[in-house]
Amino acid sequence: MSKDKKVLVVGSGGRCHAIVKALKRSPRVQKIFCAPGNAGIADDAECVEIGVENVDEIVRFVEENGIDLTVVGPEAALAAGLVNALEEAGHKAFGPTKEAARIESSKEFAKQIMAKYGVPTSGYEAFDDFNAAWDYVRNRPLPAVIKYDGLAAGKGVVVAMSYEEAEGALRDMLLDSSFGKGRVVIEDFLDGPEFSFMCVVSGHKVYPLAMAQDHKRAFDGDKGPNTGGMGAYSPVPFVTDEIRDIALKEIIQRTADALVAEGVPFKGVLYGGLILTKEGPKVIEFNARFGDPETEVVLPRLESDFYDLVEAAVEGLDCETKWSDDAYLGVVLASDGYPGAYEKGAEIKGLENVDAEVYHMGTKRDGRKILTAGGRVLMVVGKGRTISEANEAAKAEIAKIDCPSLFHRTDIGKASL
Ligand code: GLY
Repeated sequence: MSKDKKVLVVGSGGRCHAIVKALKRSPRVQKIFCAPGNAGIADDAECVEIGVENVDEIVRFVEENGIDLTVVGPEAALAAGLVNALEEAGHKAFGPTKEAARIESSKEFAKQIMAKYGVPTSGYEAFDDFNAAWDYVRNRPLPAVIKYDGLAAGKGVVVAMSYEEAEGALRDMLLDSSFGKGRVVIEDFLDGPEFSFMCVVSGHKVYPLAMAQDHKRAFDGDKGPNTGGMGAYSPVPFVTDEIRDIALKEIIQRTADALVAEGVPFKGVLYGGLILTKEGPKVIEFNARFGDPETEVVLPRLESDFYDLVEAAVEGLDCETKWSDDAYLGVVLASDGYPGAYEKGAEIKGLENVDAEVYHMGTKRDGRKILTAGGRVLMVVGKGRTISEANEAAKAEIAKIDCPSLFHRTDIGKASL
């Protein structure tokens, strides 16, 4: 086997950092570029100053640099048609076309597919008129699950515990157009523990990844606003093999088959945001990409070659994966104020003392200094034989990081400790 592959990873967050590190472990990968990357990714890949939605420039870069395969991380790049453009130009790309990525970018499309093909999920109604939506919500029991029908960086979902909060969310999404002009989907509330089941999919073929659990609320005890995710761990003990097998067959495989039948075959990561209800696992949402922060705790458990897996998906070939039994638990350090307004540019000290994987989510370099440059800034991932050990490891290493304007949750993985 020769170490001769050149790979471009598109993205800049912690997920991309984890993808880059997984590729770096491959005996087949010679060179990794990342567009645009960040201060931490620059230690593991050559970062190039191209924005993730700059489709033409990315295609040009791939051509000029003889890239063998491009891995597309963020949803915005998928929705912008980056995979379509790369494939039309004859290049290999890991990620769905923008048509298949609608399983994430349109909540209504996802719901229609699930209803048509019998994929277990909640009932729903879609609205674009504020008065009609508000009338529907205020005549139903709480909590109200309100989703913006488009991309909103993980912040377009509100589980309103009061009618006041529900009205505010509808106002934001339909009258003030906080995320852009769009519709909302209002879903029946489902109760149970949530988990993230990411699978690499290539048409009808499904290659399951290890299970993870994300923590979406900003503060301990699942309090505060929804975020992109404040921490994650893998494996997830309450997801037994039996539940996993049901989720694989009735949710992921059925959806992959449905997308083929609809003429939009999926290639890339189909992320099932699932909930374990009394009737079994059901879908809360689908994403068309690796989850962030789940990827940072899942990919380190992959013992087989990540490049082999990605290449197999792109070429529609079979691929065996092998997973470590170790537990990984990661805690996100976020800027005060996130997911609302926050300041950037604070210096992060002490990173050189940390003896654990640190994934950079939103950082930038200023000479020798590393500065905050986003809402979610770093993810520190502890490793252990058990989730408790991984938790202790993460806590001990976070204590070495000095940046007073960062906050984090202290209860990641608590349900499984
Ligand atoms: N962690 C949730 C997401 O990636 O959307």
